[in-house]
Amino acid sequence: MRSLVATCLLAILVVGFPIPRAAQAATGDPARGEDIYHRCLACHALNHNSVGPRHCGLFGRQAGTLKGYSYSTAMKKYGVTWNEETLDHFLENPLKAVPGTKMGYAGVKDAQERADLIAYLKQATSDPKICN
Ligand code: HEC
Repeated sequence: MRSLVATCLLAILVVGFPIPRAAQAATGDPARGEDIYHRCLACHALNHNSVGPRHCGLFGRQAGTLKGYSYSTAMKKYGVTWNEETLDHFLENPLKAVPGTKMGYAGVKDAQERADLIAYLKQATSDPKICN
């Protein structure tokens, strides 16, 4: 019996625990994300307001609170703080996540594309060379 337990423990050590697929899918490639960000450039820039608000400083900012940009009431009331999870949810279907938002964009449906985009945003929106 004891040797069976030892064999099992050894098997776990050697083979390792299975890595959940969801954890793998969440890893984004910022270089690919930069290409995907081109879809946003019609309305957004990293370091100045355009049709949409600037993205510099996005992570950790509460939705709808950038001074000097005129948000919809829906976005001002959304209440989330932007991070990987909240961006993933919002960007999948902006009009569904925030009914009444004036971001007239259908969203990024592909989970891997969103992960890539968010990885890029995380780097670029805190890059002191861009966001000054
Ligand atoms: C058709 C124009 C348009 C496109 C394309 C667009 N956006 Fe927006 N975005 C807006 C507008 C307008 C707002 C302000 C929404 C509001 O006030 O309801 C906004 C708001 C946002 C916000 C909330 C920011 C904050 O300060 O709270 C994020 C995040 C965002 N957009 C990300 C993106 C990303 C990433 C893309 C590309 C995948 C994108 N947007 C594409 C127009 C656009």
